[in-house]
Amino acid sequence: MKLLQLLLLVSVYQVEVYPGVESVQLPCKTTHRLPKDAIVEWKDASMYDRKVHVYENGSDQPEEQHEDYRGRTEMKRNLLKPGDLSLTLKYPTDEDTNTYTCTVYSKEGNILMKKDVVLIFRDYAEVKPEHSEVEYVELPCKTTQNLLEVAKVEWKERGNRKVHVYENGSDQPEEQHQDYKERTKMNEDLLRTGDLSLTLKYPTEEDYSIYTCTVYSREGNILLKKQVKLKVRVCQVEVEEGAESVQLPFKTSQNLPGDAEVEWVHYNPKKTIHVYKNGSDQPGEQDQDYRERTKMNEDLLRTGDLSLTLKTPKESDSGEYKCVVYGKIWRAKTVLLKVKGQTRDNMNRNSCIDPTPRSA
Ligand SMILES: *[C@@H]1O[C@H](CO)[C@@H](O)[C@H](O)[C@H]1NC(C)=O
Ligand SMILES: *[C@@H]1O[C@H](CO)[C@@H](O)[C@H](O)[C@H]1NC(C)=O
Ligand SMILES: *[C@@H]1O[C@H](CO)[C@@H](O)[C@H](O)[C@H]1NC(C)=O
Repeated sequence: MKLLQLLLLVSVYQVEVYPGVESVQLPCKTTHRLPKDAIVEWKDASMYDRKVHVYENGSDQPEEQHEDYRGRTEMKRNLLKPGDLSLTLKYPTDEDTNTYTCTVYSKEGNILMKKDVVLIFRDYAEVKPEHSEVEYVELPCKTTQNLLEVAKVEWKERGNRKVHVYENGSDQPEEQHQDYKERTKMNEDLLRTGDLSLTLKYPTEEDYSIYTCTVYSREGNILLKKQVKLKVRVCQVEVEEGAESVQLPFKTSQNLPGDAEVEWVHYNPKKTIHVYKNGSDQPGEQDQDYRERTKMNEDLLRTGDLSLTLKTPKESDSGEYKCVVYGKIWRAKTVLLKVKGQTRDNMNRNSCIDPTPRSA
């Protein structure tokens, strides 16, 4: 039994993808000669059994392949020599983790050979700002490829939300998800420079995700695909009990819609800390523990500075706070507050800055 399992293991070819890899080769070789009119079909083992690449009647059949693979595959096609039908898959991402089957049929439809290759996506390139209060992060996507044929550049987030769309020579803000409105920027002259990096402003821990940059030609072929993982740590603020006040920082995009509602909430147990709506603070809605103890800035929707000042912090105020903006746009940020009981000095320390030591 053990031996059989081992044999099964070694008979399945496995290919691994690491960050920065531009293409992978899925091997499929045979020592036999294959008939000239054989049909070669690469499929993935997804629910839909998508066709990855088809070779028939002596040529590739791009119209047969699934759109996710369009422009991304190349097959060796030495059918007459002992065959090498290996497939090159360009710009692999985590979505390509799958089992790929290479099947060769005779003209009559008999299976002449069949091989499986397992593709494993190992890791992402990462962007990790030093602390949670950076004004922006840059998600890199650069190429030396000629981009004259480019019709569209699309940045998407793991949840399939569109982060930024550039099409027919200009940004298309109406296509992007509301969470990213007024928060993204791409370079000028991006097709000439090949720098398709995205600037994401005011990142918070809510932006922790995987972002994919995809470049399409006019024909819908994928010319480039790159992935990057963004890690933004949760902001932590530390203060000693007895301090006059502490600030829970949150800066986001300016000129928020006039009808936006801003709410600071404490979790576990859930308490409303501060509400701003309809143009003013709403002290009637806040929990009595926080009455007269909170303050937000003047003109907060215009400046985008939604920081909360909490007066006379007590040890029992420690915990998780979250600010959420509701309305035509949505913004959110969590702040972990720690109020230390012993009053040595009244220092107010903001440790949103990365506390882990960095090597020199
Ligand atoms: C291949 O050629 C055969 C016979 O000429 C034809 O029936 C079939 O549709 C062709 N297949 C493709 C994909 O062109
Ligand atoms: C871009 O141009 C193509 C072809 O002219 C057109 O079909 C498409 O709708 C345009 N897209 C946008 C967002 O303007
Ligand atoms: C909003 O504010 C206006 C003017 O202060 C007031 O008349 C109105 O009742 C308020 N609406 C709500 C829903 O509180």
